[in-house]
Amino acid sequence: MSKPLTIAMPKGRIYEEAAELMQQAGYDLSADAEKSRKLILEFPEQNIQVMMAKPMDVVTYVEYGAADIGIAGKDVLLEQDRDVYEVLDLKISPCYVAVAGLPNQPLSRIAPKIATKYPKIASDYFREQGEQIEIIPLNGSIELAPIIGLTDRIVDIVSTGRTLKENGLIEYEKISDITSRLIVNPVSYRLKSTEIDEMVAGLSQAVGVEA
Ligand code: PRP
Repeated sequence: MSKPLTIAMPKGRIYEEAAELMQQAGYDLSADAEKSRKLILEFPEQNIQVMMAKPMDVVTYVEYGAADIGIAGKDVLLEQDRDVYEVLDLKISPCYVAVAGLPNQPLSRIAPKIATKYPKIASDYFREQGEQIEIIPLNGSIELAPIIGLTDRIVDIVSTGRTLKENGLIEYEKISDITSRLIVNPVSYRLKSTEIDEMVAGLSQAVGVEA
């Protein structure tokens, strides 16, 4: 039998939805794999190996060929300009990246501060707007920054809008719609094209698009 196809799956809130889609495409990755602490799961009968990765790291595993395929958010793909093929919009975990802040707070005229875990997306956006900004990089709970007066704005993911609302923040501008994407290592695409094409076809059907 050929070497198993290695898939980097995102741990956390996207996992369940992603595993369900894989199931519809004919790959049973046991939706409660997340309850286990194991980081590599083998599915020999399907010739598949699953790596449980942090969503931000999926692209790294795929770029370096540690995984053949991965499921990554478009936010991560926009932020990290990596050498992977983005082959399919899986249309799961829809959300968007937005600029938010306290209400009635005009941007400071001189180098407004922007807190974000997406420095590239934020810099690109404000450069296009002709604004010179200072990025304050944070890793989470970004909404804290404007509340405590650390920054003028945040650039972050909005999903239900609850985090903004419950912290008294408002959205100023939408930057980009986000969904999860299927990504493939370029070398794997050549070497394992049959298995990968089969998976892309199955997932395309599950998502409801032509492969
Ligand atoms: C994300 C994002 C927002 C929140 C948005 O954070 O950074 O804070 O979810 O979701 P909502 O619009 O449904 O409220 P996450 O929960 O991933 O944690 P983090 O703050 O540690 O990044």
